[in-house]
Amino acid sequence: MTIRKAVIPAAGLGTRFLPATKAVPKEMLPVVDVPAIQYVVEEAVRAGLTDVLMVSGRAKRALEDHFDRAVELEQVLEAKGDAERLAVVRAPSELADLHYVRQGDPKGLGHAVLVAAEHVGNEPFAVLLGDDLIDARDPLLEEMVKIQEREGGSVIALMEVSPEQVSLYGCAAVAGSGDVVQITGLVEKPAVEDAPSNLAVIGRYVLSPTVFEVLRRTPPGRGGEIQLTDALQELVGLEPMHGVVFRGRRYDTGDRLEYLKTVVRLASERDDLGPPLLAWLRDWLPQQ
Ligand code: UTP
Repeated sequence: MTIRKAVIPAAGLGTRFLPATKAVPKEMLPVVDVPAIQYVVEEAVRAGLTDVLMVSGRAKRALEDHFDRAVELEQVLEAKGDAERLAVVRAPSELADLHYVRQGDPKGLGHAVLVAAEHVGNEPFAVLLGDDLIDARDPLLEEMVKIQEREGGSVIALMEVSPEQVSLYGCAAVAGSGDVVQITGLVEKPAVEDAPSNLAVIGRYVLSPTVFEVLRRTPPGRGGEIQLTDALQELVGLEPMHGVVFRGRRYDTGDRLEYLKTVVRLASERDDLGPPLLAWLRDWLPQQ
């Protein structure tokens, strides 16, 4: 079955970024001059998923407005003859067929996925976390979609991390080796000594709709939240699940230090900002 739908959970509280995230979802924070979530929607579209459902919480308007037309702004830019900025203002509204649903209480990532059930229906779908960026030069979701279409079941994205970092992520037990492995178990944020591998689950999933049945009976887990990892652990026993080991560039914009590194890195690669930014950094760093 062809995968058409993407779900982007963006209803978390973003507490690590307060007060910036008091009135703005963390997914709207700019990475250089583009909100993080726009990169994520662009990635879904590149993988052929043009029906995008955003799961929003507080401050839903900022998200909706970003992907909507901005008629007054467009008129001003048009009158000024600023075709370049007009194009960047219009682009998000022309990206995909966007839908919105509210999570209500942020009861966890599993719960955020469950509120997408009605929109998704009985077909496999992708989940992309809005604060996890995958570099456009290192395709991942396209690959995951292909594997799901070939193998059925679900496909999750994995990344090798150091032993100390395992406890920050969901962690996978796997069979096989190489870039595509079979998942045999999952555990959310394990202690280093309990981690079944050094493979961390990162924010891209292609899921079978069976996950909704499982989520409906998944009790709150770690942190009192309905954990997607707990539901996937049960799903592993019901249907095939594969993991794609991603070795490309990934940016975690939900963490302040990683966010700052991402902004500097991506800005330094840009033709307009890179040369002056790098020149300034080279001059400034030795003084620190
Ligand atoms: P995180 O755990 O990183 O998000 O969730 P958070 O809770 O917003 O962040 P902190 O830890 O308080 O700073 C991963 C993704 O799942 C979404 C978040 O928006 C983020 O994209 N999420 C999380 C929901 O949509 N709903 C939830 O109830 C929880």
